[in-house]
Amino acid sequence: MTMDATFDPVRLRKDFPIFERQIHGKPLTYLDSANTAQRPQVVIDAVDDYYRRHNANVARAVHALGEEATGLYEGARRKLAAHIGARADDLVLTSGTTQSINLIAYSWALPRLKAGDSILVSRMEHHANIVPWQLVAERTGASIKVAPIHENGELDIDALKAAMTPDVKLLAVTHVSNVLGTVNPVAMICREARQRGIVTVIDGSQALPHRAVDVPKIGCDFYALTGHKMFGPTGTGALWARRELLEAMPPFFGGGEMIREVSFEGTTFADPPHKFEAGTPNIAGFIGLGAAVDYLQTIGMDAIERHESELCAYALDAMRSVKGLRIIGEAKERAAVISFLVDGAHAHDLATLLDLEGVAVRSGHHCAHPLMQFYGVPATCRASMALYSTREDIDRFVTALDKVRGLLA
Ligand SMILES: Cc1ncc(COP(=O)(O)O)c(C=O)c1O
Repeated sequence: MTMDATFDPVRLRKDFPIFERQIHGKPLTYLDSANTAQRPQVVIDAVDDYYRRHNANVARAVHALGEEATGLYEGARRKLAAHIGARADDLVLTSGTTQSINLIAYSWALPRLKAGDSILVSRMEHHANIVPWQLVAERTGASIKVAPIHENGELDIDALKAAMTPDVKLLAVTHVSNVLGTVNPVAMICREARQRGIVTVIDGSQALPHRAVDVPKIGCDFYALTGHKMFGPTGTGALWARRELLEAMPPFFGGGEMIREVSFEGTTFADPPHKFEAGTPNIAGFIGLGAAVDYLQTIGMDAIERHESELCAYALDAMRSVKGLRIIGEAKERAAVISFLVDGAHAHDLATLLDLEGVAVRSGHHCAHPLMQFYGVPATCRASMALYSTREDIDRFVTALDKVRGLLA
């Protein structure tokens, strides 16, 4: 039983055709949702319906199909914006968090930062929230400062505040860690940064699939998200930004659809968000993402969060019974993402043997080398859950873990 009587993951699972599959003759136990989520039928249908019935380019044609496609595409933008408490006009559609953060790096940071300035990131960031800043630092002479974390995987808030010195112009931090599951107190962090005039970038990749996100309440300057982790198609994502920042930023890509007027004497640009959306976008993908948002809204983000939090506690309990298992990251505020290691077993060997039992977990550095260095390990295994995950998944996973541990010991 979940804490929410109306929330039934076993029923919800039926919305996801992939769970009809067997893997190596076993039922699929999918615990890799932090990597990419599975897609419900409604998302697959929305993509299919676009190609079958509405396929045309957006914002270019006055014919009926062109207007339908544009309506569906802009409708998806409105749904996604409303889902995070934002205005559609302040939401740039991108190919994912990676592109969203690079857009900030090239359009906001590169023209502004100079030698003597600093960019502050936390030790638990995904490479997508480190490498773009390193590229900016190399070209501007700015420095990267790293905010430390505690052994339990929580941010060291005192150290973070102390690191917010006058040279820091931008702070980039994840909402939820993709490795440790830590949920960072982003509203408080943004408040502290704002008092010091520091622009804030929040990486929301791992938050959107699991909890309600209200961007104005967080009070950040930029919020990046990715569609494929929140049950939408791959190659979709968004960047929300404060209007005045979007207006001041030059475009990142140039081309069709982002202009007002082009001549060889000079070009004027469309208003944001279209100023940042050159070329034909992933129309079908965003229509699918709009359907994913509808799906999440129907279930309710609070119910999803309650279910996952209860399931995470159940999983942590069950995993602690496995001999030689070490959990990495024990933050008090956490999402249902659990990194672990087993004594004497390499993470990749564990994941390979678990796969033979039908259990999909991720092994590796999870695009977070600096975090692996902090814990002194090359890799971890990671079990990550989503709204369709059940206690039966956890039971099958822990039984398989016990078995493969025996094989590797
Ligand atoms: C915390 C975090 N940030 C950024 C990304 C990058 O997302 P994408 O590859 O969809 O651009 C990921 C994906 O794993 C992530 O987990």
